[in-house]
Amino acid sequence: MDASAAMICQNLLTWYDGAARSLPWRSPPGSSPPEPYRVWLSEIMLQQTTTAAVAPYFARFLARWPTVEALAAADDAQVMAAWAGLGYYARARNLLACARVVAARGGVFPGDEAGLRALPGLGAYTAAAVAAIAFGRRATVIDANVERVIARLYAIADPLPGARKAIRARAEALTPAVRPGDFAQAMMDLGATICTARSPRCLLCPLASACAGRAQGAERFPVKAAKKPRPVRRGKAWWMARGGQVWLVRRAPRGMLGGMRALPDDGWSARGDGQGDPPIDGIWQAGGVVHHSFTHFDLDLQLMLYSGNDYSRLGAEGEWWAVDRLDEAGLPTLFAKAARIALARTDWGE
Ligand code: ADE
Repeated sequence: MDASAAMICQNLLTWYDGAARSLPWRSPPGSSPPEPYRVWLSEIMLQQTTTAAVAPYFARFLARWPTVEALAAADDAQVMAAWAGLGYYARARNLLACARVVAARGGVFPGDEAGLRALPGLGAYTAAAVAAIAFGRRATVIDANVERVIARLYAIADPLPGARKAIRARAEALTPAVRPGDFAQAMMDLGATICTARSPRCLLCPLASACAGRAQGAERFPVKAAKKPRPVRRGKAWWMARGGQVWLVRRAPRGMLGGMRALPDDGWSARGDGQGDPPIDGIWQAGGVVHHSFTHFDLDLQLMLYSGNDYSRLGAEGEWWAVDRLDEAGLPTLFAKAARIALARTDWGE
């Protein structure tokens, strides 16, 4: 490591010793690492999700499944329901698959990046994060915060995503062999609290004197390629209620919200609008629209309310669920929003 990189590293770690955010999955700076199970669980939850949103889920999962073996033995449906609201449900399916692989290894996580990378659901980011934070391995952890810090520090003018190679090379050159886990989390904290996307607080930054981007206006970095507009998909969800119960189905294991409990819908997807017919013929009225953003598209979901009373043609795949226990159904946010709309209406003629 050259002298300038060593100085950046040193300044960052000294800052982290005093300014580290206290988060439930962390050990304090400089202390022994947290258990791999905690690190792995938190890093899966933290993908695309804020620390504030993750904290209560992390606490609930640990209380209910304190070890990787306990999680491996859990019922799939219970884990999916406990994940409800956190989004990106493929993570929950992979979480279980991974827990079962690790449990089959005697509950021991592989201790290096390559071994971790081979587990279900662990990409480059998560494998590096667990290797560095849980096992003290020198591994370079790059999330959006780190990307922003590095692009500014070195005034990388190429737009993302093309700049990723240069960003990785710079980040690798900075990663220390000692305290790599603290280094990774210090970079994340710097990005989250000082080197923020908007209005970075350069006056408080421990790396300000080394920062090439600062002189040009840190906010200009990272440069981003022009975004394509996000498509808007349209779909319908079907609300059938009788005697204080609503008809729920379980979604197919793969695909959007796969494996989650849900309202029946018309088959909308990332690729196109929904086309399917209502589960039963009869009188349906429009009950409101839910707007929901997924990663690659927005969805306008029209809620349709059934005002008939003939359920004889309803298929076998589904269940009547008590409306006053709907919060226990583990509906993903999209359908929880739709249910709230339905329940707020009194004119759909139950
Ligand atoms: N985001 C992802 N991993 C994180 C961590 N370990 N600490 C804080 N924010 C994070």
